[in-house]
Amino acid sequence: MSATATTAMQDEVRALAEARGAVLLAHNYQVPEVQDVADFVGDSLGLSREAAATDAHAIVFCGVHFMAETAAILSPDKTVLIPDLDAGCSLAASITAQQLRDWKAQHPGAVVVSYVNTTAEVKAESDYCCTSGNAKAVIDAIPADREILFLPDLFLGLYLERVTGRRLGIWMGECHVHAGIRPDDIERWQREAPDAELLVHPECGCASQCMAFGNDRTHILSTEGMVNFAKSSPKDRFLVATETGILHRLRKEAPGKRFEAVSERAICKYMKMITLEKLRDSLRDWKHVVTVTPEVAARARGAIERMVAIA
Ligand code: 13P
Ligand code: SF4
Repeated sequence: MSATATTAMQDEVRALAEARGAVLLAHNYQVPEVQDVADFVGDSLGLSREAAATDAHAIVFCGVHFMAETAAILSPDKTVLIPDLDAGCSLAASITAQQLRDWKAQHPGAVVVSYVNTTAEVKAESDYCCTSGNAKAVIDAIPADREILFLPDLFLGLYLERVTGRRLGIWMGECHVHAGIRPDDIERWQREAPDAELLVHPECGCASQCMAFGNDRTHILSTEGMVNFAKSSPKDRFLVATETGILHRLRKEAPGKRFEAVSERAICKYMKMITLEKLRDSLRDWKHVVTVTPEVAARARGAIERMVAIA
């Protein structure tokens, strides 16, 4: 699409959003033209907080399905739309509610902490939800004598064991995008840009190795944490180990600084299913409505509200 056509479609999207009383929320991995038209761009935690707080009549969620479900649970009186229903998540697909029930049955009395990248049914079986932005604070809030089952991300679980000093039961799930960022990718960059700051998402397959560097140039952060860090850092070169969509936001909010992807292959096809055109169609045709059954929503809400409340 030409720049003029993009601008015209963005104007159309803004006009439709206004007319429909909809707020547009976009995750940091969305394509640039969708990020630029949104009311709010952020990480999973920020987006959940916006969804809970908005007084708009409807939310159009430019992200993946579990994020829209979370918004629908937090705001049951609002219509939540997603521009493409197939925008799933390989990590959320790595555990079902039945698998979680079976795991809990083997660990009676354990506290279940689910990463937000899970289905509503899995959240309904959980005591706490967390995001990469507050996972450590959530674990720290649980009494030290309680057994904890953490799911579904293996690498985030290992990272949490390290930073909290707690032993966790960890589900062996992974995100195919972050797991695909390999130690080799990091090593190559360590050689080629030894002075750059390294920003690593804790879902990465290389996160444990990066922690082992133990140097003060390596930072394990949520996507929003990366934006905040880059903006306030006096440094001007950053290597970024997460989905490449975040580069647009980093370059926009920290102009004049240099950002490079550790792996150009780190592209989430699900996040990229949301296009400007589908966003326009979603607002125009009022599709696709995301709903969660009241019974599941009622059971999942407590865990999600605890997540939103813990900083
Ligand atoms: P953040 O919450 O750090 O944005 O990560 C979410 C995520 O992994 C979606 O892939
Ligand atoms: Fe899921 Fe990974 Fe895509 Fe995030 S990047 S939405 S965890 S598949």
